Amino acid sequence: MQLRNVSPGDVDAYVRMRCDPAMMADLGGPLPREGMADKVRRDARQAAADLAWLKMIVPDPATPDLVAGTVTIWSHDTDDGPISEIGWMVLPDFQGQGLGKRAVRTLLQQARDEDRWDIVHAFPATSNAASNGICRSVGFRFVSEASVTFAGQVLKTNHWVMDPRTDLV
Ligand SMILES: CC(C)(COP(=O)(O)OP(=O)(O)OC[C@H]1O[C@@H](n2cnc3c(N)ncnc32)[C@H](O)[C@@H]1OP(=O)(O)O)[C@@H](O)C(=O)NCCC(=O)NCCS
Repeated sequence: MQLRNVSPGDVDAYVRMRCDPAMMADLGGPLPREGMADKVRRDARQAAADLAWLKMIVPDPATPDLVAGTVTIWSHDTDDGPISEIGWMVLPDFQGQGLGKRAVRTLLQQARDEDRWDIVHAFPATSNAASNGICRSVGFRFVSEASVTFAGQVLKTNHWVMDPRTDLV
């Protein structure tokens, strides 16, 4: 497994993740296809400029265009000030093989090694057993339940937090 930056050619993978009802069941439902090409271009620019870590999960480095999902760390403002947040998605054909967990751990190891992003927060849906399992097993600490607005919808999530420099398992 390898992580690589999102590139402008990743539109198809974005559509299969973000416009799919099953993939988006815990994230407020599928997003419209229109706008995905622009979103990928913006994300690729952000990744290339190192403003956010927007990574595609590549199961086999020999075929870097074949992706299994994404894992991302970015910084954004909240009512309590700026925070770093991590999020992830794994496509159905690749789920249940430990790839999500390895990808999340790999990106957090990079954050630790480069001393970047400080404290990292995660907000998986309360109903998403696999994502909460990932948080628990890589060393996140459960804080509380939290309502989070994503793409205009209020989601019921669990708030997890870790300092990759000291907490990563
Ligand atoms: C949630 C998701 C990222 C999990 O990725 P994955 O690669 O299938 O997960 P892994 O195989 O790495 O498993 C992670 C943990 O969850 C557990 N798990 C996996 N699938 C599970 C399921 N359906 N129910 C309960 N636990 C599950 C695994 O056993 C593992 O825990 P362990 O380390 O204690 O054994 C993936 O299913 C997905 O992208 N779903 C749709 C989109 C989504 O929900 N994104 C996240 C929003 S917060």
